[in-house]
Amino acid sequence: MKKIVSVTVNGVLHELAIEPRRTLLELLREDLGLTGTKKGCGIGDCGTCTVLLDGVATFSCLTLAIQADGCSVETVEGLAEDGKLNRLQQAFVDHGAIQCGFCSPGMLMTATELLRRSDNPNEQDIRRAISGNLCRCTGYQKIVEAIKAASEDTS
Ligand code: FES
Ligand code: FES
Repeated sequence: MKKIVSVTVNGVLHELAIEPRRTLLELLREDLGLTGTKKGCGIGDCGTCTVLLDGVATFSCLTLAIQADGCSVETVEGLAEDGKLNRLQQAFVDHGAIQCGFCSPGMLMTATELLRRSDNPNEQDIRRAISGNLCRCTGYQKIVEAIKAASEDTS
């Protein structure tokens, strides 16, 4: 039997009737059409599905949609400011931290959480924060540099 879920996604309140077995990732991608959040493994191994759930980086593939009832969710679609890439997104572009881009939405959300709780993370802090986000392309160095640069960008 479907349950009513009220969830605020990128500042917009949605009320949906949803089967209790469905995941937050499915709600975002299939019900709301927010396909920026990716499904890689679907079992908590890769981090491509990372969103912020009440500000905390969370694997949406392991989270039931009904667990998000009453919560605020932020996805990669909510990062841009006034139609422009925010400083973290721009740093990923400037530092070549994106190749195929499949990991990027999850990386960006994990890094967003890190930069909110730490003004000046060092390389170890950054590597630890993104340790749950796999990237098959970049070798991570450019991603670490981009996050560091964003943390130092006060413009
Ligand atoms: S799709 Fe969620 S951790 Fe891989
Ligand atoms: S850029 Fe391809 S998986 Fe990270």
